[in-house]
Amino acid sequence: MVIAIDGPSGSGKSTTARLLAQRLGLAYLDTGAMYRAIAWAYLRSGLDASDTEGIRSLAVSTDLRIATIPDQPRVSVDGEVVTDAIREPRISENVSTVAAIPEVRKFLIRKMREIIAAHGRRIVVEGRDITTVVAPDAQVRVLLVADPDARVARRRAELGERVDETAVTDQVIRRDRDDSRVTNFTEAAEGVTVIDSTHIGPDEVVEHIVQLTRR
Ligand code: DC
Repeated sequence: MVIAIDGPSGSGKSTTARLLAQRLGLAYLDTGAMYRAIAWAYLRSGLDASDTEGIRSLAVSTDLRIATIPDQPRVSVDGEVVTDAIREPRISENVSTVAAIPEVRKFLIRKMREIIAAHGRRIVVEGRDITTVVAPDAQVRVLLVADPDARVARRRAELGERVDETAVTDQVIRRDRDDSRVTNFTEAAEGVTVIDSTHIGPDEVVEHIVQLTRR
């Protein structure tokens, strides 16, 4: 049973995917964290954004490890734990540079498929192209969407009320724009169930997906 969940940032996909994996006793793979880890390695390297060959060769030589236990996230790059560092704004701002390089995607997609297979396909996988590219054969495929206003409000709640609303709105809009250069995560492919989380919380979304798994 592979459950694939795609969606934009702030749609609630990470929370939903983790809760779902815990509830069903499945492993959990956060593919965005893998792109973030390569972005972390890229920033450390000092390579130029235009040096796609350099970034490709950096990516394929990186020892990237990611834990798949839903409530114990752990990501390391060449032995260094980067679980918290990959959440910093400088990573969010640069991740699309690495995610836009086809050879980097190819390398990470192969790694994702290996992880899925290593878990005997008992896993919840979340990202932007899981339902379409990484695991189009998943038994359950969901596109989680939410209105931009709701996504901004969630992001603000995460960052704390002191954060300027305009800045957060700009961030969410910029992320959507950067991400849409790389993947089509706003339209559902055939056979993908769209769930709108604008007015419902993670527990309700999880319940909805559990119903889909029973069908
Ligand atoms: O879900 P996230 O915000 O942590 O993802 C980080 C970035 O990685 C996001 O800007 C787009 C990219 N990404 C991707 O291109 N394909 C995926 N399957 C997952 C993430």
